[in-house]
Amino acid sequence: MEKYLINPNQKISRISKDIYGTFSEHLGRCIYEGTFVGEDSPIPNVNGMRKDVVNALKEMGLPVLRWPGGCFADEYHWQDGIGPKENRKKMINTHWGGVVEDNSFGTHEFFELCEQIGCDAYVNGNMGSGTVREMSEWIEYMTFDGLSPMSELRKKNGREKPWKVKYFGVGNENWGCGGNMHPEYYANEYRRYQTYVRDYDPDNRVYRIGCGASDFDFNWTAEVMRIAGNKMNGISLHYYTIPGNWANKGKATDYTDEEYYTTIAKAYRMEELVRRHTEIMNRYDPDKRVDLIVDEWGTWFDVEEGTNPGFLYQQSTLRDALVAGLTLNIFNKHSDRIKMANIAQTVNVLQSVIFTDGEDMLLTPTYHIFKMFKSHAENTLLGSYITSGYIDEGKKTPVLTESASLSDDGTIVSTISNASLCDKAEIKCQIADFAASEIKAEIVTGNARDYNTFENKDAVKTIDFYDFTVTADGFIANVPPCSVVKFIIK
Ligand code: AHR
Repeated sequence: MEKYLINPNQKISRISKDIYGTFSEHLGRCIYEGTFVGEDSPIPNVNGMRKDVVNALKEMGLPVLRWPGGCFADEYHWQDGIGPKENRKKMINTHWGGVVEDNSFGTHEFFELCEQIGCDAYVNGNMGSGTVREMSEWIEYMTFDGLSPMSELRKKNGREKPWKVKYFGVGNENWGCGGNMHPEYYANEYRRYQTYVRDYDPDNRVYRIGCGASDFDFNWTAEVMRIAGNKMNGISLHYYTIPGNWANKGKATDYTDEEYYTTIAKAYRMEELVRRHTEIMNRYDPDKRVDLIVDEWGTWFDVEEGTNPGFLYQQSTLRDALVAGLTLNIFNKHSDRIKMANIAQTVNVLQSVIFTDGEDMLLTPTYHIFKMFKSHAENTLLGSYITSGYIDEGKKTPVLTESASLSDDGTIVSTISNASLCDKAEIKCQIADFAASEIKAEIVTGNARDYNTFENKDAVKTIDFYDFTVTADGFIANVPPCSVVKFIIK
């Protein structure tokens, strides 16, 4: 039997709701078709936004949405996406599939989407191919309330009041698709660009995010923190779980047990990444003023056969749900430093939470995990520990992960993932100085290769979980293999 200890007396950090954010890029069918269909579409919409998708994201509790990229961000010229749609420039989306981008989804449409969902906006600026002036004017356009050329232009385009930009990224992956820069060069350019990202609204000071590292590039984090750390609020980290390699990533649905465990092990490396990048940040920022923002993460498999390779469309199985569950547990555990994260991506791209097909829509297994974890949002992370075996011989990846938090009304929320393909986990949970009067639980479980299709949308979904008994100081539960479970303890 595994031992699980939760200590409500050890209150560690607030779990920012923004840890449960998503990312929407002008890529494949994420924005166009997946989210935005235009006012004239037969697909039910409000001002062009799909009603079904907006409602599902609302229901999931989406706190923050990142846009417009990704690699697309450093080629995006925001002025192409404002004003009358018939006058907007048509261009080729060179990064993603070589399709025509007609710019019908631009700044106004993005904020309309955020308003409909009820989420905050994370806008990623163009440093790779854009000018300082362009970035500066975008901020002015979005956030300035007084008399200025950009605020007048915004008003002319139908928006009187400025919007709230909660987060602003100064470039994306500038070590690669965002300009192939060296860290020193990026950091110096960052200092220059961010100078002109003005704080026009004293109640909405722009939270500046510097481009951080990919994976294990610790030198990038060190150099950017050394040169520019004092000029940013957050630094990003990108990490994708790829079971194979870039040429042969592995199939989304058709995988061996070994590939399953490799995927879990690679996803769990997020723990090491967060720990090591934050250790470097601590060197230059011992007061922990700069947050870690994991603004791209998730699984990346081979695209589904017969689909545009540039559209990055992949199926999503229970394995993806396990990746999401263990990753969100890691983020919760590091919530002292991680203040926002965005899974890649929202709809129809990579590890999405939603798929669409014409006017049809389904929720992926990952969606159910995000909805499950929203009970942790804005809670206080508690000290907790679970004993566990390992899925690998090197003992790097535990079978079980967990996190526990306390809500303002005194409820304890605990989420546990069991990555074993065959063994249930018998878990004895003890909560210090706490007598539970009521425990409810829900679970996402099944066969690792289960996934939802338009013919069977509920093959993987959240169901109530009853295989536990309440004890004097906690509970004893049998958590099935390949599952993510949540306990709500009152
Ligand atoms: O999410 C897909 C791509 O992955 C993004 O555009 C880029 O930032 C990353 O390399």
